[in-house]
Amino acid sequence: MNAKMSSGLAVAASLLLFTGTASAQDVTYAEHVAPILNANCVTCHRPGEVAPMSLLTYEDARRYARQIGVEVSERRMPPWHAAPGLRDYTNDRSLEDAEIEVIQQWVATGTMRGDDALAPPIPTFNDSWQLGQPDVVLTWDSPYQIAADGDDEYRCFVLDPKLENDQWVDVIEVIPGNRLVDHHIVIYVDQGGTIAPRRDAAEPGEGYTCFGGPGFQAYMVPGWGPGYVAAETPEGSGYLLEAGAKIVVQVHYHKNGTAQEDLTRVGLRFARQPTQKVLYNGYALGGGFLGLRIPAGEPNHVVTGRYPVSEDITIHSLVAHMHYLGKSMDIWATLPDGTRVDLVTVPRFDFFWQTQYALAEPQHLPAGSVVHMEAIFDNSAESPYQHSNPPREVTFGEQTTDEMAVAVFFHTRDAENISSDSSSR
Ligand code: HEC
Repeated sequence: MNAKMSSGLAVAASLLLFTGTASAQDVTYAEHVAPILNANCVTCHRPGEVAPMSLLTYEDARRYARQIGVEVSERRMPPWHAAPGLRDYTNDRSLEDAEIEVIQQWVATGTMRGDDALAPPIPTFNDSWQLGQPDVVLTWDSPYQIAADGDDEYRCFVLDPKLENDQWVDVIEVIPGNRLVDHHIVIYVDQGGTIAPRRDAAEPGEGYTCFGGPGFQAYMVPGWGPGYVAAETPEGSGYLLEAGAKIVVQVHYHKNGTAQEDLTRVGLRFARQPTQKVLYNGYALGGGFLGLRIPAGEPNHVVTGRYPVSEDITIHSLVAHMHYLGKSMDIWATLPDGTRVDLVTVPRFDFFWQTQYALAEPQHLPAGSVVHMEAIFDNSAESPYQHSNPPREVTFGEQTTDEMAVAVFFHTRDAENISSDSSSR
């Protein structure tokens, strides 16, 4: 648990204690609500950020009190899509039940201000490198222009870290160039370093159009989304970038009514610690992958996939990847004796929130285990992000109107022991 979360919890706990003697009418913004909003909401709800309104002051919070009550009660805010109670994740954003109750009581008892002197200070924000200055900072040549209006845009930019040798990297951090329109950013590595530049060259302007991924099989590494917290790779592991590798930065632009431009930066930190294990991408692919076929109008199209584990591995984090019609995904493993191990369940999948779920306790899987996935697609007319009217059959692909079902698991191989001297590899 981080310091911010515990302060919110302490408030909730003290409130529960005193509600034993005082009435619930004593819930005030200054003393009880502001600490919760500061710890859990304002990273996104502040001026210049992606969320539609700021929640930094009493006036802000009172104005949106009714919606705040609804959003937190329904657990739609803060945005966090993993089912509660199955596993702990280091980047879990969800509120504790006691915190939700505080907000509900505050709304129900008339959104009282309380004594300003008791309010916590308005937090300050670090919009620069969260883990210090990287060793290499990459960006593209000139700002990418985003029109005021129109469909969302997905653009892949190709950057060259100019690596002469294979290189261990333990932090990959992104500073979005424009938080008003950069909705989320996914980073891929083209290890061979030749495919991405060809795609780039084939289209005029900076970068190339891409949607579900970079358009070819690539190594996925952490990217960025609103409220993203940068992290180092687990101890002893890293991303091994090959000599000549190119970095592909996929930005999802969500237009906001005024013309904007974007120059996003990607920072690489060379491994600080002895590193023996590569953090690999593993995949359980659903519905036969390339053979995926989702019938028109079907509200609950179920696909499954599995990945047999052939050597001892440890899973550190997971991503549930589908496109607009994705409805839910369940990712779990079975041990050789058949025992089920939950990894992550995303009951209300939302394409607009690309989350890498980082396991608080990494999951060891012995050889003979199987990673399973079950995904459900909603291809009915009522599907929240349905793009075809009337719905049409949807098949595998990388375009906005195509689909895929991929459970990505980031893992290390337990027996791997590569020389830790990164510079001489
Ligand atoms: C990770 C970023 C993030 C965090 C953290 C976050 N929000 Fe939001 N919030 C958003 C975005 C983005 C939207 C716009 C709607 C959407 O994209 O889902 C939004 C929308 C809202 C809305 C408006 C919904 C509507 O349209 O009526 C409310 C109310 C809200 N958030 C309250 C909160 C509260 C309260 C918290 C903390 C307990 C919180 N949010 C935490 C990003 C965030």
